[in-house]
Amino acid sequence: MAENTDVNAETGADAAAEAAAANAEPDAEAAIDWDWAAAEDDDAEPRTELRTDVPHPARMYDYYLGGKDNFPADRAAAEQVVKLIPTVQDAARANRRFLGRAVRYASGLGIRQFLDIGTGIPTAENTHEVAQRLAPDSRIVYVDNDPMVLSHARALLSSTPQGRTAYVDADFHDVDAILDAAAVKEMIDFDQPVALLVVALLHFLPDSDEPLALLDRYKQVLAPGSVLILTHGSSDHSTQEIKDAVESIYKAGGITVATRPLDEVQRFGTSGEDGWELAGPGVVSINEWQAGAEPVSEEDLRLTRAEVGGYGLVAVKKA
Ligand SMILES: C[S@@+](CC[C@H](N)C(=O)[O-])C[C@H]1O[C@@H](n2cnc3c(N)ncnc32)[C@H](O)[C@@H]1O
Repeated sequence: MAENTDVNAETGADAAAEAAAANAEPDAEAAIDWDWAAAEDDDAEPRTELRTDVPHPARMYDYYLGGKDNFPADRAAAEQVVKLIPTVQDAARANRRFLGRAVRYASGLGIRQFLDIGTGIPTAENTHEVAQRLAPDSRIVYVDNDPMVLSHARALLSSTPQGRTAYVDADFHDVDAILDAAAVKEMIDFDQPVALLVVALLHFLPDSDEPLALLDRYKQVLAPGSVLILTHGSSDHSTQEIKDAVESIYKAGGITVATRPLDEVQRFGTSGEDGWELAGPGVVSINEWQAGAEPVSEEDLRLTRAEVGGYGLVAVKKA
């Protein structure tokens, strides 16, 4: 068995599982089966509240991807978004394909360590599956702050015997908690290149949270040769009406959505004292990003920028 369940079993996992069981609509068995859990930060208040009565970003995204780990409140909000943007499900799938291409690109650069923050509910082609198919010794630490993701995180721990995976229950804002988490300290060697993934995450942080400054704190601890893999929602190819309507659907569920224009997304890639260079085509529509030999898929070619509604980038830290 892979060395992947030994990282601080405890904290919010049991309570999260109880909460999941109490709200047992989707996949109750997976939610109850928790004693493997690899959560972190024993002193932190566990995020146990599933709040199935309000929409959650992870569960709405799961709905877009055709998953079953969502509740009526998530589906109601997601369906309102689908009405406004009928291609939002295609966009979610394009985002997952980008993640696959970017992880393969990083692996091709020789990167064997991945820190995936804002992991999402496990689905097909999770980061470790993509990375370990190419390099079985790859090590992946997943981080998310949603108790639903925690309750399903077992699916993320199916490492190859040569590699390792772990799950950390933490919030992107808590930079120190994530960088000091036992799993991160044990599995990630910050003297070697790391792929930092923040895929479809930062548009949930308003400007007042200073997402750029937070991201820079992660970027500055990475060794030269590390890569940042990022996607971000944008309304550049949409109308103000749709942007406002989508934001208000999320807002009604207590979720902030801050789509950002091209130049601001580009700044996430290139900021940082040490110097970062954009790989491949730079910051482009998520479906258009490709570098190296791997082309985008037929499905990607069929999508327009307006249908995708977001940018993707891979930035490399200069040597
Ligand atoms: C749209 S999903 C993206 C999942 C995956 N990265 C992908 O692109 O396929 C966004 C994820 O970010 C997580 N998330 C949102 N805000 C977060 C935060 N402040 N800290 C950690 N995770 C967060 C949500 O729980 C959700 O699982």
